[in-house]
Amino acid sequence: MSLLTSLMGMMSSASGAAAAAEAGQAAASAEQAASSGAAAIPEVAMKSSAWLPENAAATAGDVDSLFLAVLGLSVFCFVGITFAVVYFTVKYRARPGHKPQPSPAHKDWLEITWTVIPAIICVFLFVGGWRDYIRAATPPKHALEVQVKGMKWKWQFTHYNGVKDDELHVPVGRSVRLVMTSNDVLHSFFVPAFRVKQDVVPKRYTQLWFKATEPGRYRVYCAEYCGLDHSQMKTVVVVHEPGGYEKYLQSKYDEQMNMTPVERGQMVYNGYCVACHTVDGSARVGPTFKGIFGDTHEMTDGTTAQVDENYIRESVLEPQAKIRKGYPPSMPSFQGTLTDDDITGIVEYLKSLK
Ligand code: CUA
Repeated sequence: MSLLTSLMGMMSSASGAAAAAEAGQAAASAEQAASSGAAAIPEVAMKSSAWLPENAAATAGDVDSLFLAVLGLSVFCFVGITFAVVYFTVKYRARPGHKPQPSPAHKDWLEITWTVIPAIICVFLFVGGWRDYIRAATPPKHALEVQVKGMKWKWQFTHYNGVKDDELHVPVGRSVRLVMTSNDVLHSFFVPAFRVKQDVVPKRYTQLWFKATEPGRYRVYCAEYCGLDHSQMKTVVVVHEPGGYEKYLQSKYDEQMNMTPVERGQMVYNGYCVACHTVDGSARVGPTFKGIFGDTHEMTDGTTAQVDENYIRESVLEPQAKIRKGYPPSMPSFQGTLTDDDITGIVEYLKSLK
């Protein structure tokens, strides 16, 4: 039992640190939302616990019951077997004056018992697992659909009215079906509070569904190691009160339609470029964006190129066409991810960084 206690201790201190970090993030994103005038997002603190994460989806309870059944059985067997081993080791240890006793080779009633009881338990676990699997694999008809794209190293959500966002917004009490694909490598979409997880695969669609039962903000992780910033590939699901989802979609739509090209470019920059390119003149994985428009740069193949509109467009769509000297050829293509308006935005945003 002391092993279990110390394990629990480790789990609770690790999740405490994670909770503190997440709380900071939540506060920052709330500030962002307030300053950009986005729809009011319900601010429910993301709870953390040493035990199972909060349970905020209609089918999560069934998953928990099955998990607890397996865990309970495992603990029971672990304790029982450990106790028996220790007890028999002490009781039948070699001592002066004690001779080894012959033990029976076969006992029908014992063998039948230890076969039949575990078999019955396995059937119960199988039926529960099968039922939950079928339910997870079969989204209800008329579920609300959201398109999800995984990429190194962020999530992008596209709603039916064209609004794109890097947080997932959904209404409470409604089945939501995510249609997911990846831009590059394998990722995995994981929402612990909903007890759902699904691989996200390039060149094909996978799906996942849930019905959120409590308004609030819930963590989303990438659960498939996908490279350098895998651990940073996280966001939140915002579950809106009734009516809030429609309000959010409308305000986000207005905001995205009325952006100036520079504002759009800044949004795209914060969404896609910021991990590798700075706007303050310092180099990161790639060159800075500050003050480079109009400059002439030397490339790795010895040629030179001027940073103009077409150069930027090419660098976004075919990053390997020209590699600036001194930098690795590690940028992925944004073909199919960024629209023409997005690219124009990036060009104009670069021009604005003098
Ligand atoms: Cu995406 Cu790990």
